[in-house]
Amino acid sequence: MESVRELGINLNHWYVVARSNEVTTTPYSVTLWKQPIVLYRQENGEICALEDRCPHRFVKLSSGNVSGNTLECAYHGWRFNREGKCVAVPYLNEKQKLPPCQLRQYPVQEGDGFIWLFLGERDRAPKVPRFTVPEWDHLNYIATVSIIETQAHYSYLIENLMDMYHGHLHQDWQAWTDAKLDKIDETEEEVHGYYQAQSYYRINRIWSISQLFFPQLRQLHPEPLTVSYCYPHWFSTLGEDFKIYCLFSPVNETSTRAYLIHFTSLNAFWRLHKLPIWFRRGLKNALFGSAQKLLDGLVRQDVEMIEQEQQAFLENPHQRGYEFNPVLGSVQRLIRKQALSNS
Ligand code: FES
Ligand SMILES: [Fe+2]
Repeated sequence: MESVRELGINLNHWYVVARSNEVTTTPYSVTLWKQPIVLYRQENGEICALEDRCPHRFVKLSSGNVSGNTLECAYHGWRFNREGKCVAVPYLNEKQKLPPCQLRQYPVQEGDGFIWLFLGERDRAPKVPRFTVPEWDHLNYIATVSIIETQAHYSYLIENLMDMYHGHLHQDWQAWTDAKLDKIDETEEEVHGYYQAQSYYRINRIWSISQLFFPQLRQLHPEPLTVSYCYPHWFSTLGEDFKIYCLFSPVNETSTRAYLIHFTSLNAFWRLHKLPIWFRRGLKNALFGSAQKLLDGLVRQDVEMIEQEQQAFLENPHQRGYEFNPVLGSVQRLIRKQALSNS
């Protein structure tokens, strides 16, 4: 049986390819599961996603630019519309016709601060709901985003996120400690792990955010810690105060991009909720990124471990480790089921 580290992805899901503000009228190139894709915003604000390959000489269309509502190749200036048809060749004479080329066009949508793309069969896209991040626009949540770029198969990243026994690695950052697994729920599309853990932070005062900067203010207390693999993305809550998402963008078998989003809840401050919307929006925006150092620090430590796992696999693909956490077995079953549902 093929190793989980060599499996593909289920293409029939919405994957994240960029943050909303990364896609402008300057073409933006991404690779999602080995497919080079150019994203751009037409001058009317609409997002487009096309194969990143000019059919003339096969250079990258992302080296070109947006002209009106078309994408113009850098080399000879052929222009393409959002459906991927060539609509202009600047040096065509009256007797020559436009080439009947057709670039692959991907279903794409914008929501919850991100650009989501469907790699699979086009007709299925409207029937597959995309994963949502309702806290993104909610005024009671302060967001921080960290980008994960790791030279490892996506299974190593999701296993890291589902195995809460690795609090050990992050001791210096005091994210959580003493996790104990209570229960696993496993369905066709999801795995949920329910742990009990100790949390260092408690958001019950308006100045609680200063715990991020002053360790003396932190106090260990028990909180439920849940982790959910809602294929292909991930979601976690620690007590009432924290939610974390990881939106996956697998590049190939040995490279994964993902966006980690940390939310601190202000739900406990009911007085705050009576303030005018413009003020609350201003506060949310002003506090954006307040957990940046913590989040980036955690990501760096995880990435180092994940890449060592990948290297060890490449050097010796048949060696098996010892595992005590049954969540990892559930995660691997889900990955396998999903990956094979394409073929
Ligand atoms: S290579 Fe794109 S127009 Fe010639
Ligand atoms: Fe971690």
